[in-house]
Amino acid sequence: MKKVLIALVMTALITSAGVVFASGQEEVVDDNSVEVLHWWTSGGEAAALGVLKDNLEAEGIEWIDSPVAGGGGTEAMTVLRSRATAGNPPAAVQMLGYDITDWAELGVLADVDDIAEAENWDDVIPEALQKFSKYEGSWIAAPVNVHSTNWVWANLHILDELGLDIPETWDEYIAAMEAADDAGYIGLAHGGQAWQDATVWEAVLVSVGGPEFYEAAIINQEPDALRSPQMLEVFQRMGQLREFLDPNFSGRDWNLASAMVIEGDALFQMMGDWAKGEFFNAGLEAGEDFMGFRTPGTQGTVLFNADQFVMFEVAPELQNAQTLLASAIMDPAFQVAFNTVKGSVPARTDVSDAEFTIIGKNAMAELAAANENGTLFGSMAHGHGARASVKNAMWDVITAHFNGQMTAEEAAEQFVVAVEQAQ
Ligand code: GAL
Repeated sequence: MKKVLIALVMTALITSAGVVFASGQEEVVDDNSVEVLHWWTSGGEAAALGVLKDNLEAEGIEWIDSPVAGGGGTEAMTVLRSRATAGNPPAAVQMLGYDITDWAELGVLADVDDIAEAENWDDVIPEALQKFSKYEGSWIAAPVNVHSTNWVWANLHILDELGLDIPETWDEYIAAMEAADDAGYIGLAHGGQAWQDATVWEAVLVSVGGPEFYEAAIINQEPDALRSPQMLEVFQRMGQLREFLDPNFSGRDWNLASAMVIEGDALFQMMGDWAKGEFFNAGLEAGEDFMGFRTPGTQGTVLFNADQFVMFEVAPELQNAQTLLASAIMDPAFQVAFNTVKGSVPARTDVSDAEFTIIGKNAMAELAAANENGTLFGSMAHGHGARASVKNAMWDVITAHFNGQMTAEEAAEQFVVAVEQAQ
């Protein structure tokens, strides 16, 4: 499908795109710039993105930065929709899971099959990611990482002061937050935005019902699972967690919640492992100052999401830089350099874990094990568990309940109805 770079023309002229041609043939003069739309604006995210920018600039490609602030990318997707509607999409867009499929179905994406084939992407990217990076057999996106969402981030100095170990069970987890609360700390740092509420909720769901329940209720949306008593318990546990938030949680950005743990105001944050990037960026040391551990009760299960750069159809003169971007993203050395800063693990399966901290090494091993054991699932909160329409319906109920607008019983009821209507 890759567009042909030379087009036949009848007369010679110079177009506004800077395309010069002679003797009846149009030659494409590459415009060595690439516009990238993304939502990596927090300190840790921006530091990681800098690695990619620097790599491309070293290859003579100019990076045109289009950041849209807002964790999880909700705002970025709104901007993308208006850019695409106006017929002016950027060359590459950071995107998650089923959103990629939705855009592919609209027929506005470009493929990067030539470079994918030359670099054997088929052999080094796991199936779980290829499901989103490819559409109808063609590569339309370059995956840069794998994150996972069922993590808790702890301030180890507070935990020490309270004389506590890393909690392994839900009861120990609640008890630790109670102890923090009694000692004048905030138990749980949280930002009240729908995607953050959903990030916490999906981990709680696994803690209640295990991986089988996640698969049944979220991935397969089975009516029996949606209507089960376990679903009620999920909302009840969310109510328990709400008790440990500070009163100003509403609307707070996720990285500001991380900062509360970093600065020693709060004991825990439940957030995907991009939070690790914030801890590193603040100069904290894993195992000394902070620690990441699986949400108690979810050990062995990995809810993943992968950031991919999706390629949009662009003018011929922009395609070379687009291809170079795709190739730079897939470079093994880059995937190590980027992911050690970002807090994620490489999308490629053929890179070593030598450069990663103990948390990163564990995450790589857990990912491989979960893949093997059938306990690796796409994160609903981050676009990999359900199509966007269903995901949005889930988010609405989760966030309304977490903000105290309905009881756990009402939420459990509403959840079934919302999912059924959105399917
Ligand atoms: C996720 C994304 C991560 C991270 C986070 C917060 O959806 O996959 O890379 O940055 O949002 O912005």
